[in-house]
Amino acid sequence: MPRRKLLCGNWKMHKTRSEASEFFHSFTKRLGNLSDVTRTVDVGFGVSATLFDTCLTGVHGSGVKILAQNCHFEAQGAFTGEISVPQVLDAKLSGSIIGHSERRQYYNETDEFVGKKWNALAKASLLPIVCVGETRQERESGKTFDVVKTQIEQSLKQVSADARDKDFVIAYEPVWAIGTGLTATPDQAEEVHKFIRDLLSGAFGPERAQAIQILYGGSMNAANCKELLSKPNIDGGLVGGASLKAEDFALMVQTAKDLS
Ligand code: PGA
Repeated sequence: MPRRKLLCGNWKMHKTRSEASEFFHSFTKRLGNLSDVTRTVDVGFGVSATLFDTCLTGVHGSGVKILAQNCHFEAQGAFTGEISVPQVLDAKLSGSIIGHSERRQYYNETDEFVGKKWNALAKASLLPIVCVGETRQERESGKTFDVVKTQIEQSLKQVSADARDKDFVIAYEPVWAIGTGLTATPDQAEEVHKFIRDLLSGAFGPERAQAIQILYGGSMNAANCKELLSKPNIDGGLVGGASLKAEDFALMVQTAKDLS
């Protein structure tokens, strides 16, 4: 069975509730019935906690996923500012982005933490979107594959056997391409995606690895997404800036749908 494409917006720390409502109004107007869209492609949005309810209302009944942008691996406790997996579940979200490079860079998130979050989400049957990717310096010194391999393998050490059986998504996001307007070329991205799929094949077996969605992230937009999404191992995108405008993101979802 061919893998479905997944286009997931990453809104980062953007939008008020009224802006989010307006977005979904316009997004729906452009794409028509969202339930029809999700019959062919997977669509999601990682949003701030203040927007969970507004976004769930905006996509109600359509199968569009609303996700957190981070969560804690402990079920509860004295962790001011954090959101637990039971809270993500209770909020009726589909999962969470974890290990985004901004979290790794500004909040010292380690592979071990990312793995614990992966484990906790998977155990609750929520979808982890696990972000990996190299910095510019790492790419220039030829360390891209090593970095990505270490990030995935070290995280996986924290994921128990039962949690490994649950769905997850990997997002390959070269740090130098995030928010910079510099996109990896389709060939550069495909090379790393293929490497990740081979790595997953070693860890999960070839059949399972063939079914795992691997997204590209880093300045993907309406103009460059077709070429990226046409590559055999690029199954979608984690989209920051270009997901903030309904017009642009609707075009990208339409492109993914047309390619499916
Ligand atoms: P960008 O962000 O599309 O704005 O580069 C992608 C991301 O950080 O997930």
